[in-house]
Amino acid sequence: MPEELHVHLIDHPLIQHKLTLMREKETGTKDFRELLEEIAMLMTYEITRDFPLKDKAIETPVAKCTGKVLAGKKVGVVPILRAGLGMMNGVVRMIPAARVGHIGLYRDPETLKPVEYYCKLPSDVAERTLIVTDPMLATGGSSAAALELLKQKGAKSITLMCLVAAPEGIRVVNKEHPDVPIYVAAIDDHLNDKGYIVPGLGDAGDRIFGTL
Ligand code: PRP
Ligand code: URA
Repeated sequence: MPEELHVHLIDHPLIQHKLTLMREKETGTKDFRELLEEIAMLMTYEITRDFPLKDKAIETPVAKCTGKVLAGKKVGVVPILRAGLGMMNGVVRMIPAARVGHIGLYRDPETLKPVEYYCKLPSDVAERTLIVTDPMLATGGSSAAALELLKQKGAKSITLMCLVAAPEGIRVVNKEHPDVPIYVAAIDDHLNDKGYIVPGLGDAGDRIFGTL
């Protein structure tokens, strides 16, 4: 029986359309960046679907009534540098009160292992619902390392938001962090011998920041 991947695929038509534009090699930095932010906004809408609400008594210009406001834990967004920064604004535009932490990791081109170079987090990560952003889940090494680091710092509630994932990366995160839900906009076919997602969209960081 084929092995089951535990992942939420958010394949809304708007997301699929925007992702196809991003994948095209002719798409330039400005459009790539804007599309990634828009997709992150749309994904945030889905990821937060189950956030708890509580009643709030309010008064409109017409009458008193009971409205609903978010009741759950406060939110933190943690982009994995660099490319995760491209999704951060989309989340923050939907959840403006979110605090932002940063984890700097790059993938060694020879070993494909993540190397940590920066970590700055809100002091109360243990009390926050964290959304970790990284457009690419390839071998899974970078995401798994970031999740491990957050847990070492006390994080208890974490969701991973990626744009494109390879089955290999989903498998690694499922195995090392079975408690962390993964949301993706696409599950691609495989990794090539350089650890790039196929068909993927190339190097996300380089396309966001124009460093190709
Ligand atoms: C990319 C991407 C992920 C990582 C994915 O970052 O943004 O963080 O690779 O690969 P993995 O799942 O095999 O670890 P990269 O190392 O290119 O750094 P950058 O974002 O600074 O460009
Ligand atoms: N990192 C990227 O930016 N793209 C890939 O395809 C794999 C890792």
